[in-house]
Amino acid sequence: MGSPRVLLFTGKGGVGKTTAAAATALRCSDAGLRTIVLSTDPAHSLADAFDVPLSSVGSPITDRLWGQQLDAQERMEDAWADIQAHVMELLGWAGVDAIEAEELSVIPGLDEIFALSDIKTYATSGDWDVVIVDCAPTAETIRFLSLPDILSWYMDRLFPAHRKAVKVVRPVLARLTSMPIAGDRVFAAGQRFYERLDGVRAILTDGRHSSVRLVVNPERMVIAEARRTHTYLSLFGYHVDAVIVNRLLPEAITDPWFKAWKETHAEHLTTIEAGFAPLPVLKAELAAEELVGIERLRRFGDVLYGDTDAAAVLHRGEPIRVHKRGERRVMSLELPFVDRDDLDVGRNDGELLVRVGAYRRAIVLPDSLRRRPVTGARMVGDRLEVSFGEEPSRG
Ligand SMILES: Nc1ncnc2c1ncn2[C@@H]1O[C@H](COP(=O)(O)OP(=O)(O)OP(=O)(O)O)[C@@H](O)[C@H]1O
Ligand SMILES: [Mg+2]
Repeated sequence: MGSPRVLLFTGKGGVGKTTAAAATALRCSDAGLRTIVLSTDPAHSLADAFDVPLSSVGSPITDRLWGQQLDAQERMEDAWADIQAHVMELLGWAGVDAIEAEELSVIPGLDEIFALSDIKTYATSGDWDVVIVDCAPTAETIRFLSLPDILSWYMDRLFPAHRKAVKVVRPVLARLTSMPIAGDRVFAAGQRFYERLDGVRAILTDGRHSSVRLVVNPERMVIAEARRTHTYLSLFGYHVDAVIVNRLLPEAITDPWFKAWKETHAEHLTTIEAGFAPLPVLKAELAAEELVGIERLRRFGDVLYGDTDAAAVLHRGEPIRVHKRGERRVMSLELPFVDRDDLDVGRNDGELLVRVGAYRRAIVLPDSLRRRPVTGARMVGDRLEVSFGEEPSRG
């Protein structure tokens, strides 16, 4: 059984992420693929787009298409038994009396953890060929997608001995209170919670199976945000395989009032195609009506993909690669559109620290680089190249 295709849709608020995710899901299922589409957005917009009610455990939409609307509250109640012991101990320590699952579900980060664990469940169950994720607007999505990386970073430092045991529970709860030393019982609860997330990052950053599609409108601010998103996604090792330009004014509109708008759209489209190259750019025009219901979504998908296979990997980038240059080694990271002033590179033992704006990633160095000193870092085109000198001789 091969791994399923995982497609994530993100972009600025209101650009058409849900519409594109829903239309892509329909197209995949119409092509015979068993497809599930889920939303990380608490608003029930996927259900609204299909005009079909969707439950939090999944509901059928067409023959081979299912949809799921995450309900963090409900999931919190399910997971409650697992974490209760831990939480009670914690809160007792903090001097807080009993707490209900309902109150806990407002802890930031929990619905994201559930969404990530759902993606993992669907991607590993063997029941699906395609898993489609309708993400929240960009900033939240980057937070969401950097979560597995950040959590494991903290866990490796705070609990090297208990690495696996407490990977997830602590950072979530640490936002509530500084924590007492956890006992064995608590570690066991933490372990079960952690297992939900173990491996999710490996699934989502595997470019052979998982891709992000960036949805934009032909507008200056939307494009600027998409560029930054592309940079941050690359920083965390995610593969973007296409840009979707939605709401282009149709050729058929000849009213002079729209003349300047059409020219602006054409200019922005050129900028997008040039700026995001070699990524393919898929296009959809502004429809004459809202894109609600299966038939309209299906038509939208036909226009968007034409003859293109919606489930294919549309572009294979290389977020990180290491190559030899004489005796030296060069680690090269794809960081499209990065502003040099926003970029910092550092070294901490076996890790390379890369900061872009507000986001940081600690990249664990492969054995071939671990003992070599960093001798330089520079941008070459869209890539950050970090040079490593020769390994110091032993003894
Ligand atoms: N090409 C289009 N033509 C006409 N209407 C469109 C088009 N694309 C999207 N819409 C409509 O615009 C609205 C917003 O689209 P959608 O919900 O897909 O955006 P979103 O990016 O998911 O928004 P949010 O950030 O709120 O999640 C919906 O009513 C949708 O039907
Ligand atoms: Mg949406």
